[in-house]
Order: sequence, then structure tokens, then C-alpha cells
Amino acid sequence: MFNVAVLAGDGIGPEVVKQGLRVLHAVAERWNQRFEFKEAAVGGAAIDLYGWPLPEDSLRLAQASDAVLLGAVGGPKWDGVEYEKRPEKALLDLRQKLGLYANLRPVRPLASLLDSSPLKPELIKEVDLIVVRELTGGIYFGSPRGLNENDGQLTGFNTEVYTSAEVERIARKAFEIAGGRSKRVTSVDKANVLESSLVWRKVVSKVKQDYPEVELNHMLVDNCAMQLIRNPGQFDVLVTTNMFGDILSDEAAMLTGSLGMLPSASLGGEVGMYEPAHGSAPDIAGKDQANPIGLILSCAMMLRHSFGLEDAAGRLEGAVEKVVAAGHRTQDICPKGATPVGTARMGELIAAEIIN
Ligand code: IPM
Ligand code: MG
Repeated sequence: MFNVAVLAGDGIGPEVVKQGLRVLHAVAERWNQRFEFKEAAVGGAAIDLYGWPLPEDSLRLAQASDAVLLGAVGGPKWDGVEYEKRPEKALLDLRQKLGLYANLRPVRPLASLLDSSPLKPELIKEVDLIVVRELTGGIYFGSPRGLNENDGQLTGFNTEVYTSAEVERIARKAFEIAGGRSKRVTSVDKANVLESSLVWRKVVSKVKQDYPEVELNHMLVDNCAMQLIRNPGQFDVLVTTNMFGDILSDEAAMLTGSLGMLPSASLGGEVGMYEPAHGSAPDIAGKDQANPIGLILSCAMMLRHSFGLEDAAGRLEGAVEKVVAAGHRTQDICPKGATPVGTARMGELIAAEIIN
């Protein structure tokens, strides 16, 4: 039996999580597995209930589970809250406290969705890449950070820090992943300007020597942002810092036609955490319009990386492809003039495909 901590969070989080659970129930039925789901509050929902975005009980539940499934956190309701208490802080604390230094965001456009991409289909059809984002270091966590006011000047400051140990472990992760793919790693940094990137580049090059079969090239982040649009098919594994990975993964996700399709796995500690890369989308929350596929594909990553259920993961991914290929689209990927399906219907269709 596998214990899953379910942290649905805010906005569209609860409705996409509901569809993920529906699909996991179908997986349990078909593969004769048992999953136990335990829910806890996180993000703005937890602030409203307990005054704090990551209550102690929620953290403990996550730590005691075999995997964490997370929906989304944040929304305009909590915009005025100070950083220490914002919904997003729950996510950052979970990543740090669970030791999840490696965030995997695979980008593989579905053949039936090539027309949904803002880029020409011929640019997209070769795309099969994965962003390996460092998740517990860099400017998100560096100190000093803060706000002060001197002589009437309001000043905000953050610090980008990388140690060689932090770079080494994420680099190893990237080379290992590349070993099972087409064996090419692109390391993205800003080594022409930042000392933290100098360390990054030096350590990645050194770690590469342990992986002679993998090809490595270094790319500056501004060039990478451009290359992702000019020729996205050139990339296989992209390894980069927390901040650059945040930005480049949203850009790369859009190649698939919608940010709503992008899953992610955060690994490195004893418990993996799985969440879609999209946010809480408060504008469409509760309207049955959200695309649950990012969350559902995150469940597939959970089956693969935390539970070793490779067959079930593949079947789930195949089910998503089939349902989309059959023409069922949520509004974010729906062609003009066609009728979109709702969040719940999409989940129902994918679950049915798994059992069939
Ligand atoms: C992501 C999100 C988060 C991040 C936010 C919500 C804190 O954008 O997972 O990419 O910046 O890491
Ligand atoms: Mg982001």
C-alpha cells in the first residue's frame, strides 16, 4: 500500500486534484494496488483556517507519506500578506524541508495537439525535452534578503548563492537522466555576469567527467530563452538554477500549447512531491474549466518515480494521449469553434480509458 499526502491548496488546485485522485483510483482498480489518500490544508486555504500557509500537521503528514500530491497555492486574496506568511511560502518550505532539490519538468507535445502550440508544428514535432531545475537553492533561498528603507529609498534585496555541493548533486541528477535519454545535457547559466554561475559552470563541467557517454554544452540563459523559440528540438536535458528554471520551464511548457499540460516531480529526499507546473488560476477556479492534465501527468510521474509502477505510469500517459487524440479538449487547448469539455469530464474520460 502507498500513502499519499494530498495537499490540494487554492484556486483550481482542489478541482484538478479531484480528477487526479479519480484517475489514481482507476489505476488502483486495474493494477490491484492500494493507495491511501490523506488530505491536509496548505497555502491560502491553510492561512484562512489556521493563520499559517504550512501548518505543522500538514508538514508532518507529508513527511510521513510515500509521496505528496499538490494542487496549487496562492491567489489575489492573500496578495497583501508578508512573504513569510504567503501561500507560496508553503511550497518553498515543503521543498526545503523535504529536501527536494531536483525538479523535473518534462515537455513533450502531444502529436494531436501540435496545432495548439503558438509555434509552427514543424518546430514543435521533434520536441522532447526535460527541464531539470535546481529547487532548494539560488535566489529563492539565499541570504541576506529583505526590505529596508534608507533616506526615503525603499530597498528590496535578495541573494543568489550556489555552493559546489548544491551544483554537484543537481548536475549528477541531470547526467543520470540524460543517460536514459538521448544523452545530451545543456547547462544554462549566466556565467558572463554572475559569480554563482561561474561556480555552476565549473562544477557541472567537472561532474561531466564521470559521465563520458553524455555530451555537455553550456548556454547563457538569454540565448537559451531565444533558442527555445527558434529551435526547441535541439534540447534534450536542460539543467539550470532555481530562478532560471522557473522561467524557462514556463516558456518550454507553452510549446505544448498550454501551461496546463505540464507535470512536475520534485525529488531528492525520501518523499517525492508531484504537482502541475501551472498556478492556482483564480480567474477560472470553481468553474469546471481548468485543464487537469498537468496534475494527472504528475500522478503518472508519482507512479513511476515514487512507487516504481512503470507500467501503470505508461498506461496513464497513453490514456491522456488517447483522450486528447479523440478530440476531447479543455478550453485552454480547444480549437476555435469546437466545444470544450470540463475539468471533471476530462478526468472521467481518462479514468475510463485506464480501466478499458
Ligand atoms: C513554480 C511556481 C513557484 C515557483 C511559485 C508558486 C512559488 O512558479 O513551481 O514554478 O516559483 O517555484
Ligand atoms: Mg513557476
